[in-house]
Order: sequence, then C-alpha cells, then structure tokens
Amino acid sequence: MGQTDYVPRYARAIPAARVFTAKCSFHLASCKALPLCWGDWRTPPASRPSATTEHKAVNTTPNGSLACVGIGITLGSHISPLARSHIEKAEVVFTAVSDGIVELWLREMNPDVRSLQPYYAEGKPRPQTYREMVEAMMTEVRAGKRVCGVFYGHPGVFAWAPHRAIKVAREEGYPAHMEPGISSEDCLYADLGIDPGKVGCQHFDATQFMLFRRNVDPGAWLILWQVGLAGEQTGRRFGTGPAYRQVLVDVLRRHYPADHEVTVYRAATLPLQAPRMERLPISGLPEADLNMSDTLAVPPCRELEADHEVQQRLALLDVATEPG
Ligand SMILES: C[S@@+](CC[C@H](N)C(=O)[O-])C[C@H]1O[C@@H](n2cnc3c(N)ncnc32)[C@H](O)[C@@H]1O
Repeated sequence: MGQTDYVPRYARAIPAARVFTAKCSFHLASCKALPLCWGDWRTPPASRPSATTEHKAVNTTPNGSLACVGIGITLGSHISPLARSHIEKAEVVFTAVSDGIVELWLREMNPDVRSLQPYYAEGKPRPQTYREMVEAMMTEVRAGKRVCGVFYGHPGVFAWAPHRAIKVAREEGYPAHMEPGISSEDCLYADLGIDPGKVGCQHFDATQFMLFRRNVDPGAWLILWQVGLAGEQTGRRFGTGPAYRQVLVDVLRRHYPADHEVTVYRAATLPLQAPRMERLPISGLPEADLNMSDTLAVPPCRELEADHEVQQRLALLDVATEPG
C-alpha cells in the first residue's frame, strides 16, 4: 500500500475524516481558532484572575473532578492510553484542539464532547476567552461531574487555561490532574534531529522574547514559540505582519548575524502530512509566510566557550578524590 493509500483506523471509523484525510486539504493555517497561549507574564499581578475572583464557592459536591489531558499533535497517533481512558470515562469532555476533525474523532470516544473553540473571537481579549474556558469546565466540575479537558499537544506547554483550571479546581477542593501529551516541541526534536542535551536549548514565547531583555546563549539552540504572533501585545489579534517581524529580526540581530539560517517548523497534524521545515536567513523573516502553528528554531551560531577556571577546579578535585 502506497503512503497516499493509507487510511488510518480513526479515519475509517469516521466517514468525514476519511474524506478529509484522503483529500488532505486542511492544515492548521486555515484554523482561525488554534488554541493560543496568553501567559501570566503578560498580565499584571493585580488583574490576574484567581479562584476567588472567578468563583467564590467551595466544594459542596464532592464528586466533581477534572483531568486535563494532551492528545499530542498528529491526529490519532499520539494519544496515550491514559489520556484515552480519561476521555472515555469522563461524563463531560471539553476540547481545545487544533481542528474540527479532532473533535469528530473524540466523539467516537465520548458522546458528550463540547468545543471550547467558540470562546475565541477576533477582537475579543484572550484573557477573557481563557477565563471563560476555565469557567465552562469548572461549572461542570462544581455540578459533580467527572470532567475531562482535552488539549492538543501537551496540555501544560504554552497553555494557560489547563494550568489555571487545575489550580482553581484544587483550590476549591476537587481532585484535578494533568496528563501529559506529545507536544510540538517533542515533534520538533524528532523532525529537525535536535537533541536539546547536546549544546542546550532555550525556549521563549516570541513576543516575550521581544518585550524583555533575555540572557540569550548563542551557543545553544533558541526556540521561539508563537512566532506568527511575534509582537502581538493587544491580546485581540490572531497574527502580526512584516513590520512586527522586522522588530523580531532586530532583536535577534543583537545575538546572531543577519544571514544566520533558521528553520520555520510546523509539525504534521494529520498522519499523511509532511512537517514544514523551511530554512531561511534571519533577515528573511519579515517576508516569511508564518501562521499561528509555526515555531522558529534558531541554531547556535558559535562554539561553546570553555570556563577554564571551573575546568581546572574540577580537574584538581578529580586528582584529590582519586581512590588509592
Ligand atoms: C498555545 S501554544 C500550544 C502548544 C501546545 N500545547 C503543544 O504542546 O505543542 C501554540 C504554539 O505552539 C506551537 N505549535 C502548535 N502547533 C504546532 C505545530 N503543529 N508545529 C509546530 N509548532 C506548533 C507554535 O509555536 C504555536 O504558536
């Protein structure tokens, strides 16, 4: 069977998925509402929502519980048995996943699947969207339901709502648990052949990287998340453009030459897709076609610098502690 003939088991079970997968015409770029992350670092401490501002009640219905699970990046093939078990056993499943086909697939596992996507809207402040998502899940937990929140990738990686929902649930006395998933970071290591242990690897949200002065180590890998949103400070838009990315280029230029080659990476979300791995010089970023699911991988531009003093101290220790 040739690769294009292959129809995965989930797709055979879901007619719409079969058509969808066979055509392979959809990719995340067309999904306006790919779940985004709006980190706590963007929100001043005084205005951060807490369990008390979101809901004042304490646990009066002890049966409620929350599990936030990750289903990985590639549809059907990354889900763990534990995540599947949480989904199947839940009384209500909420989803913030990468596209509609994933929701169809989840409905094969549980009849009560509710999308969190409608909470997103162009122009709506994302902190409000995330608070509403947490509230939607917590309303069912407080009603005594076994609730499962399903998130694409890893639910705890660049994802605000799952962390917040678990915190709120625990503060209110409900059992709450996070089940890890295969994140886009994991896919990136596999597809780009990067071992983060080799020279080290730094990860930043692209906008945070621009807004704050970071100690960048150009001897290590640098991974910039949400690069399609680089410089987006309003919390209301789903992308920025060349002028914003030129600012990113200027920040990167403090550490890297203009012709340093970087990779725009997008992991496959459907089994028949190939990952996007597009190499370009840093100076080409403003004109690059970037969307909400792209990640930027910047390789090191210089050798590791030896710390001779520490090396000598350790060598002396080796001599001093040598047996015999
Ligand atoms: C809100 S974060 C969610 C990450 C997700 N929780 C995970 O575990 O991968 C969204 C960002 O993750 C990265 N991302 C999401 N999907 C991706 C994909 N298919 N390939 C590469 N990076 C992806 C991009 O940097 C994107 O802007």
